Amino acid sequence: MPANSRSARVLAISVLCFFVVVLARGQARAQVTDKSGPSANGQSASAPVANAPSSEASKYVGAETCKTCHEDVYNAWEKTPHWKTTLNKEGGPAHQGCEGCHGPGADHVAGGGDKTKIFTFKDASREETSARCLTCHGDGHEQSHFAESAHSSSDVGCLDCHSPHHAKEKEHLLVQNQPQLCYGCHTSAKADFAKPYHHRVNEGLVQCIDCHNPHGTATIRQVRALPSGDAICYKCHADKQGPFVYEHVPVKTEGCTACHTPHGSTNPRLLKVMPVNMLCLQCHTFPTQGPIGPAHNQSAKYQACTMCHNQIHGSNFSSVFFK
Ligand code: HEC
Ligand code: HEC
Ligand code: HEC
Ligand code: HEC
Ligand code: HEC
Ligand code: HEC
Ligand code: HEC
Ligand code: HEC
Ligand code: HEC
Ligand code: HEC
Repeated sequence: MPANSRSARVLAISVLCFFVVVLARGQARAQVTDKSGPSANGQSASAPVANAPSSEASKYVGAETCKTCHEDVYNAWEKTPHWKTTLNKEGGPAHQGCEGCHGPGADHVAGGGDKTKIFTFKDASREETSARCLTCHGDGHEQSHFAESAHSSSDVGCLDCHSPHHAKEKEHLLVQNQPQLCYGCHTSAKADFAKPYHHRVNEGLVQCIDCHNPHGTATIRQVRALPSGDAICYKCHADKQGPFVYEHVPVKTEGCTACHTPHGSTNPRLLKVMPVNMLCLQCHTFPTQGPIGPAHNQSAKYQACTMCHNQIHGSNFSSVFFK
């Protein structure tokens, strides 16, 4: 039986591992075991599933055994990306197949399918289920900041957005398509993107995940940054990045959201404040807070500030942002 030979192999490797570490680092087989060494250690430190000492490796029966009773589940699962885990021999049985998520299944099988002897996800807290997923999707992945995310701290877990067996979306095992998935909980974002001026998220041109990482970031609001650390906005609006000979200070110090709402607005150009002179005058009111233009009064002539100061994001030619 494949299950038995697998167990036997696992046991053999574990024993070998022991001897290699203690006695025979230089042996021919050392290369093989060293390879599995670090990942096995990493597991026992972090993984609730995998902290079995080597004597418990025999608690794992392998996905083929699960298939004998759960054939429909297996057949559907085989078409998902998690099937790949069966090929990952390095992590050992605790990181492979069904048991990579459900934990060791030997007792469950011996009990003829005793539900109390296997991790079912059903009654587990979100913290607990997410921790399981993070044994593989944690450090070094898109999910590495999950613990600090607003999602995690508001008790939103992986399974609110993903389902390994019942995904509605082909891509990324999502329970719903985007942006509907997000709108289900974020009604104010939904309202913003329905405003007359908006990033075309509903139209499919831009996605929430272009600007946000739903798994959390090192920055606030789960807003992504470019690898350089600059604002994500520059990814698509590179012409605003400069560097310019004459920078408009707030673009660099306060960022785009000093003047724009990122989602949607009733104001053209996603401006926070309209008309535009009112936006400028938020900062350019008193000489102490910034310069006021010479002879600028609020007569009609001067109200459309960006008619004259039209390189408002910065200029290489004009210190007052003319063309
Ligand atoms: C990536 C983690 C993961 C893997 C791998 C996995 N499962 Fe699951 N399983 C879950 C989660 C999570 C649930 C809870 C329902 C859901 O969210 O899809 C679940 C639920 C189940 C259920 C309850 C019935 C159902 O359909 O919800 C059965 C039975 C099951 N899994 C068997 C298996 C078998 C058999 C395999 C291997 C072929 C397997 N699982 C692989 C995570 C996993
Ligand atoms: C000997 C047959 C058998 C084998 C082999 C088997 N199971 Fe089961 N399993 C069952 C039965 C029977 C149930 C209970 C179904 C029920 O009551 O709805 C069950 C229930 C489950 C459940 C809980 C489903 C729920 O509705 O809560 C999970 C998860 C599960 N099995 C996973 C696995 C995994 C993973 C393996 C392989 C390690 C496995 N099973 C191997 C027979 C088996
Ligand atoms: C045993 C390790 C392991 C565990 C535990 C695990 N995954 Fe995965 N997951 C993988 C691997 C491997 C892939 C495939 C990555 C690839 O294709 O490059 C994957 C892929 C995914 C994908 C991407 C699918 C796609 O189409 O791009 C999602 C979403 C995912 N897992 C969610 C989960 C969730 C939710 C859980 C917890 C219920 C979980 N995983 C638990 C190893 C794991
Ligand atoms: C608020 C919803 C949400 C939550 C919570 C969430 N995800 Fe995701 N996840 C997404 C969306 C949307 C995508 C697809 C877009 C992308 O690639 O970022 C995705 C993509 C992924 C991918 C495939 C792309 C990649 O990053 O490699 C994996 C793996 C994944 N999620 C795992 C997880 C795990 C593990 C958790 C729990 C720790 C989790 N997700 C929690 C929404 C979510
Ligand atoms: C299951 C409900 C749920 C889903 C689905 C969901 N969120 Fe959230 N999200 C929350 C909760 C709760 C918070 C924390 C409270 C808040 O700020 O609204 C949050 C916070 C956020 C934040 C950070 C806000 C802050 O103040 O730091 C962003 C950004 C976000 N979600 C984006 C998304 C995106 C993008 C999606 C879709 C991929 C999504 N969310 C799907 C519930 C959800
Ligand atoms: C063009 C980039 C961009 C897109 C697309 C985008 N966001 Fe945001 N979002 C931001 C920025 C930037 C902030 C921070 C605003 C601030 O700090 O003033 C933010 C803030 C948030 C917040 C925190 C509360 C709030 O309203 O300020 C939530 C929740 C959120 N976004 C959810 C979403 C969801 C859901 C989607 C998709 C439907 C989405 N975002 C699409 C850039 C974007
Ligand atoms: C994924 C690409 C992408 C990202 C990231 C992005 N934008 Fe945009 N943005 C666009 C596209 C495309 C348009 C053109 C809008 C249209 O025609 O629907 C646009 C238009 C705009 C407009 C002008 C709207 C108008 O009415 O002319 C402003 C202002 C804007 N974006 C600001 C921002 C800010 C601020 C950020 C960062 C928070 C940002 N964008 C991030 C793609 C992006
Ligand atoms: C000091 C306020 C201010 C800041 C900060 C600012 N903008 Fe603007 N932006 C404006 C004004 C005002 C307009 C409208 C110009 C007009 O009326 O022609 C505008 C227009 C735009 C437009 C549409 C017209 C065009 O020039 O393409 C885009 C896109 C845009 N801004 C992106 C950004 C991005 C990205 C950032 C951050 C890097 C940013 N803005 C920072 C004030 C600002
Ligand atoms: C968030 C605050 C803020 C907003 C809004 C703002 N500015 Fe500025 N602006 C500044 C600061 C700060 C400086 C740099 C002042 C200095 O160097 O003494 C500056 C510099 C300038 C300069 C160059 C002045 C010089 O002497 O170098 C012009 C012209 C200007 N702004 C025009 C505008 C116009 C037009 C608007 C409206 C579209 C606007 N600003 C909106 C903060 C702002
Ligand atoms: C009809 C064209 C025009 C309009 C409209 C206009 N300005 Fe000016 N602005 C100028 C000229 C001309 C200068 C002087 C340029 C120079 O010194 O070379 C100037 C200079 C400035 C300066 C720099 C002052 C300094 O001391 O260096 C600021 C700040 C400024 N304007 C802000 C604004 C604001 C805010 C508005 C809208 C309320 C506005 N401008 C509307 C033409 C205009």
